[in-house]
Amino acid sequence: MAFSFFKKSDKKDEVHNGPHYFDLKVKNVVQETKDAVTIVFEQPSTKINYKSGQFLTLIAPIQGKDVRRAYSLCSSPFVDNDLAVTVKRVEGGLMSNHLPDTLKVGQTLKVMEPMGQFTTEFKTTNKRHLIMFGGGSGITPMMSIIKSTITQEPDSIVTLIYCNRDIDSIIFKEELSRMETQDEGRLHVIHILDTAPMNWQGYSGLLNHDMLAKLFERIPDWGIDRTTYLMCGPEGMMKNVETLLAARNISKEKIFKESFVQGTIDKKEDKKEVSGESKAREVTIRYDGQEFKVMVEPNMTILQTALDQGIDLPYSCQSGLCTACRGKALSGQVKLDEEEGLSQSERAEGYVLTCVGHPVTDDVVIEIG
Ligand SMILES: Cc1cc2nc3c(=O)[nH]c(=O)nc-3n(C[C@H](O)[C@H](O)[C@H](O)COP(=O)(O)OP(=O)(O)OC[C@H]3O[C@@H](n4cnc5c(N)ncnc54)[C@H](O)[C@@H]3O)c2cc1C
Ligand code: FES
Repeated sequence: MAFSFFKKSDKKDEVHNGPHYFDLKVKNVVQETKDAVTIVFEQPSTKINYKSGQFLTLIAPIQGKDVRRAYSLCSSPFVDNDLAVTVKRVEGGLMSNHLPDTLKVGQTLKVMEPMGQFTTEFKTTNKRHLIMFGGGSGITPMMSIIKSTITQEPDSIVTLIYCNRDIDSIIFKEELSRMETQDEGRLHVIHILDTAPMNWQGYSGLLNHDMLAKLFERIPDWGIDRTTYLMCGPEGMMKNVETLLAARNISKEKIFKESFVQGTIDKKEDKKEVSGESKAREVTIRYDGQEFKVMVEPNMTILQTALDQGIDLPYSCQSGLCTACRGKALSGQVKLDEEEGLSQSERAEGYVLTCVGHPVTDDVVIEIG
């Protein structure tokens, strides 16, 4: 589920100008670990604004096709002059291997404007405790939020529980340690490793009920009203943390998560069954001051149908995770193959994700943006 915590993004007052694309110049490529690099982009002369926790969509021609993938910004708009994302290699993955293998300093890369709802407003008057659960590359949005919280909210604190395979897989290890020392009492990092070296002083093994109980004894208790839980990491880790937090009676409204990869746990085997439709239906899409009508075949998503007709709609992950394609159904019914990306309240308000959406009535009108 990717959504804003504390405040839902309200775009009513914004003037929308369609998806923006930028050619960003690579300023630096930093090898963070054996399989993760940080790509630092120069801010263009017209600054790209973003919120901590949002992601950039990187677009690169690979094997004759424009491939796009979402990467959370690990830079903070309050701290860093440049924009940065960290990419961790996925075995057999197209983009996550192409970028570290080919990208050079000075090269330009096409990106789509920052998007995403996994963000918050930072206020100097806030007094809150953010308890973060990060796993592997899931540290990236957390890093941005940590930097922004520490610098913008003098009375807030952050606890980061960071799970990794082994000590060499810890992304931003030194930077986190430096921030922890520099901002004593404001940031507390607890590492958990699957496999720990002999001299490891921290935690190792599966984050289970007993371990969480021990961790919570070490974490300051700011009370339920002032504590928020954030998580981003592999699906198994997030499911586990959700279960553990539920067992501690922490309400779902206090927990916010960002998913990088489509879940496989509890998945319906046959996606076509979700829509259960056998006929094509017309969908009206309102976007960027224009209205488009598309005929969506039963085995097609609304987004794919629109893209095939050359309609330039915003999208990134194409798997119902990132919400870049989010729209509101003003009428009609849309079935989603994947509902994880939207919160219950967003669904109740009529929000849909066009990348996993199929019309099931003939009167679907979707407003995007
Ligand atoms: C909102 C959002 C933010 C993201 N931020 C980051 C980020 O900051 N850093 C980062 O490295 N990635 C991030 N990702 C994941 C990223 O977008 C890509 O999915 C990832 O880099 C794999 O792309 P690929 O083209 O290499 O793999 P693909 O060719 O798309 O996939 C190859 C195989 O790997 C599986 N797979 C895909 N992603 C993962 C994964 N993360 N772990 C395990 N298996 C996977 C796929 O299911 C597929 O089977 C983010 C994703 C989303 C939706
Ligand atoms: S494109 Fe990511 S949720 Fe639809």
